[in-house]
This record gives sequence, C-alpha cells and structure tokens, in this order.
Amino acid sequence: MSFDLVFFGGTGDLTWRKLMPALFQAFRHGKLPAGGRILAVARDERSDDDYRSFIKERFAEVESSKRPSDEEFARFADLLHYRRMDLSKPEDYAGLKQWLDARSAETVVLYLATSPYLFPVICEQLGAAGLNEERVRVVLEKPLGHDLASAQEINRVVRSVFNERQAFRIDHYLGKPSVQNLMALRFANALFEPLWRRESIANIQITLAESIGVGTRGDFYDRTGALRDMIQNHALQLLTMIAMEPPSTNDADAIRDEKLKVLKSLKPFTPDSVTRDVLRGQYKAGTVDGKPVPGYLDEVKVPKNSSCETFVALRTEVQNWRWAGVPFYLRTGKRLAARDAQIVVNFRPVPHPIFASNGRANKLVINLQPEDGLELHLLAAKGSGPAEQLAPVSLDLDFDKAFPSERVGAYERLLLDAIAGRLNLFVRSDEQEQAWRWVEPILDAWEGNPSDLKTYAAGGWGPAAASALVARDGFAWAEEQ
Ligand code: BG6
Repeated sequence: MSFDLVFFGGTGDLTWRKLMPALFQAFRHGKLPAGGRILAVARDERSDDDYRSFIKERFAEVESSKRPSDEEFARFADLLHYRRMDLSKPEDYAGLKQWLDARSAETVVLYLATSPYLFPVICEQLGAAGLNEERVRVVLEKPLGHDLASAQEINRVVRSVFNERQAFRIDHYLGKPSVQNLMALRFANALFEPLWRRESIANIQITLAESIGVGTRGDFYDRTGALRDMIQNHALQLLTMIAMEPPSTNDADAIRDEKLKVLKSLKPFTPDSVTRDVLRGQYKAGTVDGKPVPGYLDEVKVPKNSSCETFVALRTEVQNWRWAGVPFYLRTGKRLAARDAQIVVNFRPVPHPIFASNGRANKLVINLQPEDGLELHLLAAKGSGPAEQLAPVSLDLDFDKAFPSERVGAYERLLLDAIAGRLNLFVRSDEQEQAWRWVEPILDAWEGNPSDLKTYAAGGWGPAAASALVARDGFAWAEEQ
C-alpha cells in the first residue's frame, strides 16, 4: 500500500524525539508498508539532505538498542523528505498538494505535531487547498484544547474539513501494549467477566507516576498542569477501558460508543466534591534515584509564584449498574519515587475467612510501565502444619517474554494504525469533549484559588493527603498495602 506521511512540526521535539524513532523501528522490523514517503514540513529553509542529517544527529539521543547503524539509517533516510512551509500561506498548501498529487499515493496521513493553537488554521488551509479527499487522514496530537470550549472549537473546525473517520486523535497511552491487552484480557477471556463488577471488586486504582520533572518544558507545563496533561486524557482513557461494557464488535465505533458511555456515567464534580475528592500538589526539592533535584518553582521557565499542580489524586465513581459505589482512584505526578504506570483492580476479601492468618484480598495488577505485564495476586498455603500459614503469591505474565519478537512501542503502533486506517486506538471527538466536560468543574474550582495546593518532596509518592483520600474509604494505595 503506497502512502505519504506528512509531519507538520517536522523539526519539533515530538517529531524527532518520538515519531521518527518509532517510524524507524517500524522500518527496521519490516512493518512499514513498502512504497512510503515521509515528508517533514517546517518554517525554515533546508534541503532533503539537511533534514536527513538533522534527524541522524538527533538519533544519537535515542536509547542505543533503538539507534540505527549507518547502513540502516542510509536506507531509512531514502524515505525522508523536507519542505519549507509557512502554515498561514495558502500557496504553500497548494505546493504541498502538488507534491502529493504528483505521486498519488493510496493513503496520505497528515500528522499535526505542532502546537494545538495551530490546528484550526492548518485544518482550514488544508480544506481550502482540497487536501481533505477521502484518501487523507489527519492525526491530531494532544493537548487537544485547553478546556471544553477550545476543544469544541478545534473539533468544529476539524469536522468542517474532515469526516470523523478521517480524524485520528492520538492518546499515546492507548498504543501501549498493556492497554491493548486490557481489551484482550477482558473480552477474549471468559474468566474475568463474571468478577468484573461491584459484587467482586472493592476499588480500582490507576496510577501514572513519573520520576522525571518538567525538564525544559516548564513554560508549556505551567500553562497545562497535571490535570490537563495526564488525567483528562491518559488516565480517563484507561478508566474507560477498564470500566466499559463489552462492545458488540471489535469495530472502532462499537468500542468508542462504550467508552463514551463510561465517561458520561462518571460522577459529576461539584465545588464541594472537588474540595473533598480531588487533591493537587506541587513538588519541592528532594531526591530522586539517589540524586538531588530542584523543586518545581526552581525549574527552568517556571514562574517563581506558580500554583501549577504537578500532582493530582482524585476519587470518582462510575454511576451505573455494574460499578455503583465502587471507588475509582486516579493519581498522577511528576518527580515521584518511580516511573510506574499501573492499574490495580482490588477484589473484595472472601466473605467468610476460615484461615487465622492474613486477610489480604486478591488483586490484579496491570503494569504499563516500566514493564508490560500482568500480576494476579493470590493467597497460598506456605506449607503444612497446624498454623496453616498463608502467604501472598502472584501469577506473573511478562508480555516481553511471552511474545519476544512481537512487541511494538506505542507510537510505532499508532503510526502504523493511522497508515492502515485502523481507528480503534484513537479517540473520537465526543469522548474527548466529554472528558473535558468532566474535568471542567475541577478547573473552575481551582481557578484563582491556590490555597489548597499541597507540596510534596520530590522522590516520594506525593502529598500525605493522597493516602488519606483512599484511607477514608478503608483502602490503601498499592505501595502501602
Ligand atoms: C505526555 C505528557 O502526554 O505523556 C508528558 O505530556 C508525560 O508530560 C508523558 O511525561 C508520559 O508518557 P509516557 O509514555 O512516558 O508515560
């Protein structure tokens, strides 16, 4: 299948840090369909060769096992092209169309790896230039808006130019192998479904912890904060995958209809429940991986008086028959103790314990990071004897070991899906807007009112109050259990 893949923002961080390395992996694994061209567009003047050298230099920053040899890069570089474009000029879009039409690839993927403020203008110009034919797909990178109104405005413009099946809204968490496996776990195995409900599950915890700080992105981050950066998209998408009803088919819209229903069933926040059920924090200086690190206010490009949150923990419920009363706890933060993304499904304890020791209940842990895997925690008898000592044991599934040659990274997977036109792992506009609708009362309650911002030392698990949020219901976070 011939394709042209165009990156707007072709010299930007996302393109060289994530997208080019992911494409190279697909190329190295022979997964990139033959007959493709990759075109980067950006503002400055460069030749194709200049661009190839630029990307080659940037590959030095990629982890060594994912770096191309000179010979591999030379072959990959043959696919790379560059065009200068001023994104506000209609004639530059006409030029792009000519370049694309000269070859008439079956599929054209236009990847908007630019600031989201440019999405409306780029889409309008693409439409005006006729770059919205059926073979064209547009990929939109997060953040998709800053609040509900700006997200709706982006979607309005996108919809005026493209139909919904041409719009691929990326949430790269959906491309992570464990997240795809969540669908398989729930809907390809009969084992869990009877237990996947309020009668058996005590609570569900989604933790997206990072040990990194805001790095050089202080200005972007300070306008964004953890709620917009991680909860509105990544954490809520994971929640929908955990809580959704079985879709009737594996088709993108059947899945996205069910995910939307979950978002619509989330308990709405009020000013009072924000105070009670949502906690925000900001990191102070501390120690991560044995090294001292500065506090958020001392990071580059962060205002000294910032009240931006780098940590959020919240409690919510999915108000439907399956989940009524089951707390869902979501938590994310920068400069926490570890890079650790996981979903923990805590089951209820047995109704009538007959063993004297250890009342620990079962739990299923879905690890997204640093490794992909599943752990089913059980209790087993340690040995014989009158004490009948029970001990926790776990059945572990390491996806890398189970499928050693099949693993693909999130961006690699999503880029290949966009080229192939598979929408299952992309977010529909109504899901994305509903997610904004749900977080908006939190943003409103926080606006101009930083008094409840807690601090936490870098290298820990966030403000102490995060433990209290869960302890109030008689539970504990996974690392405290
Ligand atoms: C991005 C956020 O969407 O996800 C970043 O903007 C965050 O702030 C990143 O660091 C985390 O992604 P991953 O895949 O490294 O967990």
